Amino acid sequence: MGEQRSSQWYAGTDRNAYIHRAWMRRGLPAHAFDGRPHIAIANTASDLTPCNAHLNEVARSVEHGVHEAGGIPLNLPVVSLGETLVRPTAMLWRNMAAMATEEMLRANPVDGVVLLGGCDKTIPALLMAAASVDLPAVVVPGGPMLTGTFRGQPLGCGTDVWRLSEEVRAGTLSQEEFTRSESSMIRSRGHCNTMGTASTMAIVAEALGMVPPGLAGTPAADSRLLEGAHDAGRLAVEMVAAGRRPSDVLTRASFLNAIVALAAVGGSTNAVVHLLAIAGRLGVELTQDDFDRTGAGVPLLVDLQPAGRFLMEDLHRAGGLSAVLREVQDLLDPDAITVTGRPFVEHLDEARIWDAEVIRTREKPLQDHAGIAVLYGNLAPSGAVIKPAAASEHLLRHRGRAVVFDSIEDMHARIDDPGLDVDADSVLVLRGCGPKGYPGMPEVANLPLPAKLLREGVRDMVRICDGRMSGTAYGTVVLHVTPEAAAGGPLALVRTGDMIVLDVGERRLDVDVPAEELAARAPDPATVAAYAAPSRGWERLYVQTVGQANTGADLDFLVGSSGDAVSRESH
Ligand code: FES
Repeated sequence: MGEQRSSQWYAGTDRNAYIHRAWMRRGLPAHAFDGRPHIAIANTASDLTPCNAHLNEVARSVEHGVHEAGGIPLNLPVVSLGETLVRPTAMLWRNMAAMATEEMLRANPVDGVVLLGGCDKTIPALLMAAASVDLPAVVVPGGPMLTGTFRGQPLGCGTDVWRLSEEVRAGTLSQEEFTRSESSMIRSRGHCNTMGTASTMAIVAEALGMVPPGLAGTPAADSRLLEGAHDAGRLAVEMVAAGRRPSDVLTRASFLNAIVALAAVGGSTNAVVHLLAIAGRLGVELTQDDFDRTGAGVPLLVDLQPAGRFLMEDLHRAGGLSAVLREVQDLLDPDAITVTGRPFVEHLDEARIWDAEVIRTREKPLQDHAGIAVLYGNLAPSGAVIKPAAASEHLLRHRGRAVVFDSIEDMHARIDDPGLDVDADSVLVLRGCGPKGYPGMPEVANLPLPAKLLREGVRDMVRICDGRMSGTAYGTVVLHVTPEAAAGGPLALVRTGDMIVLDVGERRLDVDVPAEELAARAPDPATVAAYAAPSRGWERLYVQTVGQANTGADLDFLVGSSGDAVSRESH
């Protein structure tokens, strides 16, 4: 066995090496410290992150693989974020989870890491951490749930919550039936089974090269996930020996490949902020416009909710990401490598589509052009994004009267007011939901439609927000408006009654108010007061240092890599 990073703690005969070894012995033999790789298993298992609650079992398979390859596996519980539970929004804590994981990996005697994530923010946070500490790292996604059914129909986690709850508000589904569907939705262990953010980030992580090829999308209840976890443990040991680090894998080429994958599967808009943040940790040049430029020519090939019909179990059965990307292999950069050290495109040769209803061929795509459109205009000088695949075709070019809400509380208080002056052509504007304003940039951009319009049969309207949208949601929603209202963006100046002009084809988002008049307006003082920074704790640090959505909403002092070196000893 050679010299490892962990040897800085364990090698030698002095008092400090004695202390480091002695406290770690607890059954470990002396040869555990002879220079063999010590592999951390950064584990986001938590009962309060139900989508990741099974990861302790996955970790055991990783341990077996690490042992088999001659390494020492070390369980490292890290900050976990349950998307549905954590208040005020899990996104407020993504950067904290990333920072804590990065620091704990750096501070401890580990040579490589296997990253276990699943629920929305967990894989992005783990990747941000791994990118910054730049130790050999491999991701094992926890996998999606199996398909649940209700009244003979498949239920998509998240997507069908929005659909069914709108049906209740529209009076077409009873409250009893709605409640009855609850236990049908979560059929097994795993994360949401739609092409929401968790599924998207697992797929994107594989397209980046950070997941062993073919593993992302394996259902959490499928025994092949444990086999893949075992192999990932072996791989982590090999990566240490090869000195293969995230900075070798996460190049601009791999990010552009991830954008192709994101478009081809119709993935979540949340991948934009997460990929920008991960790239920022490595100094890889990547902008919001890369998503539009690279994704615009990619066909939508996967018929999954929320844009389509099927669920993640179907995608896996149909051939998975490899089968999808084989169809668009010519759009991928062949120079990008994976954690195996081999080119990403190499393993695509063996891929096949086993169900052409779920994964379409290049010749018969669901849509010719998928991807995410980036809009600019006097309402979004630094950009805003929209997912045309999840929008209504007839609203992609629209002019309508703004109905403005200053916060989600304001929206909840008035959206169903029968006296609200709104019609189907109105544009619902929700502000105060950006990284600083909320704080944390919650998934509220797909605000509910007014009940009186739902009852009239309206099922989509143009909505504009400086927050994010759940990857499981759908609709003509313009999100990530930058700068956000709380950072002085013009969104703060829009008034109810202004005309909003959306033209996705032209990539424009404007408010039809003369520039001089807009410049002369000042935000409502009560609105500005609501954006005041919290007085203490993480929220204060976050609000003071968080960047805008167009750069990944990372903290300014976390951008960039610090490597794995620690110069000082604790004793
Ligand atoms: Fe965890 Fe959807 S709530 S992945």
